[in-house]
Amino acid sequence: MDKVRIGVLASGRGSNLQAIIDAINAGTITAQLAVVISNKVNAYALERARRHGIADIFLDPASVADQPNPREAYDRKIFEVLKSYQVELVLLAGYMRIVTPILIQAYPWRIMNIHPSLLPAFPGLQAQKQALDWGVKITGCTVHFVTEGVDEGPIIVQAAVPVVEGDTVETLSERILAHEHQIYPLAVQWYVEGRLRIEGRCVRITQKP
Ligand code: GAR
Repeated sequence: MDKVRIGVLASGRGSNLQAIIDAINAGTITAQLAVVISNKVNAYALERARRHGIADIFLDPASVADQPNPREAYDRKIFEVLKSYQVELVLLAGYMRIVTPILIQAYPWRIMNIHPSLLPAFPGLQAQKQALDWGVKITGCTVHFVTEGVDEGPIIVQAAVPVVEGDTVETLSERILAHEHQIYPLAVQWYVEGRLRIEGRCVRITQKP
């Protein structure tokens, strides 16, 4: 059977991308990484892709800045690339742009995101800082399907991470990140095995066939 073809969108250092690459190489994700796309020319994620012989593509948001709806125009360009690489599943991995309905409708229930908090707490930017400022004792990370509401889509898997005395944004982020690297590959493999069933806003994980 053909392997599921994955496309990753990333804006930064790409440690979650690396976790996906490592899981594919280890055989714990039985899919193929077809392309990595970034909105940032210097994103280290692109370098990681290159090092592993994966197509790396920088799409410049400035190239569509003069269009009537630049965000949608940009997502149309992304879609063209994903289509040309026959991508079936899209992973947002530290992708710091809001995805428009153009992409969401092109990939219904086939876009996942990882977020560094226990959603629905602390959506949006600087989730780890939000958690520290709020004074929560437990935070964590969430993999969810992407819908039109930011960080609102059905939750696939979460990991809880304690906040400890003296934590800074950096120490907490690092502790959360280690869990991100565990749960993102897990969610992807569940998808690959066809085990994710969406019921309303709940995701059921069915038994392994
Ligand atoms: C990760 O912590 C990810 O959860 C977060 O950005 C970081 C990217 O790290 N994403 C968001 O905050 C999305 N709202 P990485 O580039 O090393 O994977």
